[in-house]
Amino acid sequence: MLIDIQSGGDAVLAVNHRLTKAGVDNPRLDARLLVANVLEITPTRLFSYPETPLSAGQVEQLSLLVERRAQREPMARILGSREFWSLNFKVNESTLVPRPDSETLIEAVLARIEDRNAPLSILDLGTGSGCLLLALLSELKAATGLGVDISEHALKTASGNAQTLGFGDRARFQRSNWFENIDKTEMPFDLIISNPPYISDDDISRLQPDVSKYDPYVALSGGGDGLDAYHKLMPKMSDWLTLDGVIAIEIGMDQALNVAGFGEAGALELEEICKDIAGLDRVLVFRLKP
Ligand SMILES: C[S@@+](CC[C@H](N)C(=O)[O-])C[C@H]1O[C@@H](n2cnc3c(N)ncnc32)[C@H](O)[C@@H]1O
Repeated sequence: MLIDIQSGGDAVLAVNHRLTKAGVDNPRLDARLLVANVLEITPTRLFSYPETPLSAGQVEQLSLLVERRAQREPMARILGSREFWSLNFKVNESTLVPRPDSETLIEAVLARIEDRNAPLSILDLGTGSGCLLLALLSELKAATGLGVDISEHALKTASGNAQTLGFGDRARFQRSNWFENIDKTEMPFDLIISNPPYISDDDISRLQPDVSKYDPYVALSGGGDGLDAYHKLMPKMSDWLTLDGVIAIEIGMDQALNVAGFGEAGALELEEICKDIAGLDRVLVFRLKP
């Protein structure tokens, strides 16, 4: 419980103290974000006006958020949103929190687009919050996209994000078990993107609790060897792609060779293995075999 708090500045000090004691990384940054959230002002404004008063109700609300953070609940889950590609995405218990590493996929796709005003069609398999599809729509001004997911709740979140970000007229969302329910009249797509679940069952138990406890299992689990989704997706990709289309698919550590092999067997040619900011293989880019 936080006590003797009158202003935003007091609150930041008290929250920083509590989170430091709880061993949270970056306690001061989190403290600023949590206090700003409760005050409904930006962290910059809080920094400039630390004297901003807090009501008793706001202190109580803050105490609850701080205890959640002290229990290692990720900030994105507490605040209900996360920035990706400089866009703000609502997230909830049914969506993966967008990861900075996934921006590698956006960069890989954009690097291959000659005309950003072309009316390209995009298919996003396992759209979650919609972050990949909507980030691409933000750059490709005449593109349209279909995002599919197995989770109805995730699709509602993605659709809400599309509306809020102003892409509601260019993005559609549909429940589908990978390609299963996508109408054949939709084919072919110029770009097919996916960040499927790719953690092996053994590895899920070894993940940090802020991931294993809070990200949805269906967004993480790639089955026994982590490759289940690729087994299902890669043989079908070529049927859904235009002749000069591009496929960009995120992979986990050490999966590049296997997934490249599934692609080759599925009439695809590996064009590039893209590394993330940590230098790890993160995205495979394929095209149709000539
Ligand atoms: C790793 S998350 C990626 C979410 C989002 N694209 C992102 O990059 O943050 C994988 C997504 O695939 C979805 N998914 C899992 N199995 C699926 C299936 N059989 N068919 C369609 N989507 C599935 C999950 O619900 C989840 O939203």
